[in-house]
Parts: sequence; C-alpha cells; structure tokens
Amino acid sequence: MADKSKRKKCLRVKIISMGNAECGKSCIIKRYCERRFVSKYLPTVGIDYGVTKVHVKDKELKVNIFDMAGHPYFFEVRNEFYKDAQAALLVYDACDRKSFESLDLWLQEMGKQQLVDDVVVFVCANKVDMGKRVVDRLEGQLWSQGKGFSYYETSAATGEGITEVFQDLFEQLVKLSECDGKRTIPTVTPGFTKDQVDAILRLKNGRDNYEKLGVHYTASRDDINKAYRKLAVILHPDKSMAPGSEDAFKTLVNARTALLRNKE
Ligand code: GTP
Ligand code: MG
Repeated sequence: MADKSKRKKCLRVKIISMGNAECGKSCIIKRYCERRFVSKYLPTVGIDYGVTKVHVKDKELKVNIFDMAGHPYFFEVRNEFYKDAQAALLVYDACDRKSFESLDLWLQEMGKQQLVDDVVVFVCANKVDMGKRVVDRLEGQLWSQGKGFSYYETSAATGEGITEVFQDLFEQLVKLSECDGKRTIPTVTPGFTKDQVDAILRLKNGRDNYEKLGVHYTASRDDINKAYRKLAVILHPDKSMAPGSEDAFKTLVNARTALLRNKE
C-alpha cells in the first residue's frame, strides 16, 4: 500500500536537448548529472540516453534525458525522439553566432514531429565563461522571451546557471503536471513585437546615430524627427515590455539630439 502511494507520486518526464553540434549540450547534462566537465570534444553519436531521479517539493521525478547529436548527419535518428518530449534544452554557443542563428531551424525540426507549444523550452546561452562571446545577453533574451521561452546563461565548464536551469525546468514540469499537462502559460505570449525587437537591436548595434535611427546621412531635420517619433511610439518604456527597451529609448533620445545638433 505504501509502495503504491509512493509510485503514484512519481512523475515520469522526458527531456530532450537540441542545438548545433559542439555547442555544449552533452557537457551541460554531464555537469548537472555528474558534476564534472570534460574539455575534450566527444561528439554524441545519434542519441545518448540517461535517467535520473530528483525531488521537487513532495514529488519524485523520474527524468528521462535524451541528449541529441547536433550534427545534421543524425537528422533521422533525432526525428524518432522528439515525440512526447515535455521539455527541451535548446542550447547555443554564445561564442558562435551560427549556433544562435540556427535556433529557429531547431524549432522547425522539432515542430515536424511534436507540437512546439506542448514543450516547455529552456534556452541556454552556453560557454559564457569563454570571454569571447559574440551573441550578447540582450539578443538571447529578446529571441527567447519573444517566443515565451525561459532564457539562461550557462557554462558547463564553471557550472554557472546549470543548477538553476534544471531546477526551473523541473519546477515547471511539476506545475504542468498539477494542471493535467496543460500549459498555464499561454502558448504565444511574446509580450512584444518584432518591430520592437528590431528597433532595440538596431539602436544597440547601429554603428552611428544615423544607422541607429535608420535614416540616411542626407536626412533633413524633418526626416530625423519623423524617424524619432516612429521609434519613440513603439519603444516608450510605458508601452514596450521587451528587455532593453529603456536603454534603447535613452539611446534614441540621445541619437536624435546629436543628429539635430549636426544639422543646425
Ligand atoms: P554534439 O554531441 O556533437 O551535438 O555536441 P554537444 O553540443 O553535445 O557538445 P559537447 O557537450 O560535446 O561540447 C563540445 C565542446 O565544447 C567540448 O570540447 C566541450 O568541452 C566544450 N564545452 C561545452 N560546454 C562548454 C562551456 O560551457 N565552456 C567551455 N569553455 N567549453 C565548453
Ligand atoms: Mg553531445
């Protein structure tokens, strides 16, 4: 009888890892499960499977982890394992822009086998210890939160962010099980628009004030003011929920002031 109630409390979950080859999926999992880091690259061949037990509040979770190979060669193997995944670690290497730009392709690949809205996705910007990152926090956050996914900065080498991402993942899966597997978070809740994201990134990365405002070097005072007003409407901190809006708004005001001064 005691055994039966114990079994009832045990929740079985399936987690998959996705992301380009060499971005650090296996190392993140190893760091969490075995508390160690291997610096030599040992590519995953097809799938690695592991199981671990964890406790969240009064629940015991039997966690089945399917660690996928990121190499395109293993496409067919991966396709057999997307089905019924409840959570996914979607990993990119913060020092490799291509791995960041591939995130949409990973969602597309999963989407052909499994409804993406049924999977709780945790984005890991990995290798943040390396000191030569090319995708900054803001870009990662904008992409992730724009899709309603949680965003973490991780390092399998130092352990940064690893416990946190798994802890959050398990807690969300328990919450999910308490509502009969239905996501409590609405499926599409970006809270901000693509226009806002594009504007924030342009204001941050634009090489000069003209580029930041999106106007030509020959722009008149009127053109500058028009561009300013358009951006101010979408970026006003009272309106925009997107991370980085406040800084972008300040940059916008400064850029406009500087450009108008030039045109005096
Ligand atoms: P595939 O299995 O081929 O898809 O690759 P993967 O995504 O599983 O990558 P893996 O975990 O094997 O790591 C690839 C390489 O990156 C290895 O040499 C790791 O030691 C290194 N690496 C992984 N994570 C980190 C990290 O956080 N920091 C640093 N400095 N190196 C890392
Ligand atoms: Mg691997």
